[in-house]
Amino acid sequence: MKIEHFEMERMQSTWENVVDYNLSESGVHPLTLEEFLNPEEVKEIMTEVLGYSQTNGTPELRAEIAKLYPGISIEQILFTAGSSEANFLLMWSNIEPGDEVIFMAPNYMQMWGLMRAFGAKVKPLYLRESLNWAPDLDELKKLVTKKTKIITVTNPNNPTGAVLSQEAMDTIVNLAQKVGAWIVADEVYQGAERNRVTTPSFWGKYDKVFVVNGLSKAYGLPGLRVGWIVGPEDAIKRTWPYHDYTTISPSILSDTLARMVLRADNREKILKRTRDILNKNYPVLESWLKKQDGIFHFIPPLAGAICFARYNLKMNSTELAEKLIHEKSVLIVPGDHFMMDHYLRFGYGPEQGYMLAGLSRVEETLRKLKAS
Ligand SMILES: Cc1ncc(COP(=O)(O)O)c(C=O)c1O
Repeated sequence: MKIEHFEMERMQSTWENVVDYNLSESGVHPLTLEEFLNPEEVKEIMTEVLGYSQTNGTPELRAEIAKLYPGISIEQILFTAGSSEANFLLMWSNIEPGDEVIFMAPNYMQMWGLMRAFGAKVKPLYLRESLNWAPDLDELKKLVTKKTKIITVTNPNNPTGAVLSQEAMDTIVNLAQKVGAWIVADEVYQGAERNRVTTPSFWGKYDKVFVVNGLSKAYGLPGLRVGWIVGPEDAIKRTWPYHDYTTISPSILSDTLARMVLRADNREKILKRTRDILNKNYPVLESWLKKQDGIFHFIPPLAGAICFARYNLKMNSTELAEKLIHEKSVLIVPGDHFMMDHYLRFGYGPEQGYMLAGLSRVEETLRKLKAS
């Protein structure tokens, strides 16, 4: 089976640890263990026996995850190595060649690549900039047919930072219900809202829903590689065997640490840290974007440490991103990676001084391009 290159992930993994300024991340500056572990937890980690973890997640961890989804049992949860493994397992286990699936766009392109590789007919559901990156609900109604097998959404969205309205969520649920389609909702940015209002989950809105989440974005812990799937018990039971063919189980250290992170007091502290970073840094990025001589147009993001800005220079976005890497040692994600040229996705989750230093290098390039 052939697979398309996942361009964004490849560019990030090539450059993120090489450049002076990495402004390509969509989450906040990651935490260290000493920032949240108490002495008993440190002792527990130090004495952990490094065996295999329970492959679907220890019952203790799944009990912590279950607290986030009212009314569910731990049998409805599958622990995965990041939300990316969760997405992979769901696409792999549900898609047959020829299936018709709907994919929100722009978006993190993992599911897009997988759906196409598994032979699905993928229909994009566009978020419209003219609607503040909301979907056009009439368009959505026309997209869903009796053949629609899965509707995938990323909410809050990457790269736009937009959050679906209640009306849009209800419309998606009603349409899915009408044709019996599954909803796969990637909610990994839930909890990273600037206004501190937690994005409502699709969980509980309909019986054919899979929710994906993890600790990489709102919790600032991508290095733990913790994700999970929540779904109906029989659907989780039939997804688990696919896990046996990928990572078997995430690391036991990540299982234990995830349980500690999700304990109410730690969780609250960590999510507060994330929202504080977002609220401290966003105004700085926004005023920088506005200062760039009319080059940028953008809709303020509601969530995620990302701002998707359109620019009016005559240069392709990959060319511009590569110029910034090679001439300024700054990494920014080009719009091409979301199939939208003439946009850049700025990450505003790093330490503020670092972000500003990176932006000032970008500014030098923009000035020259504008002048020429
Ligand atoms: C929407 C979305 N889902 C999943 C992922 C993968 O994250 P992870 O595997 O670290 O949880 C990303 C990463 O950027 C993302 O933006």
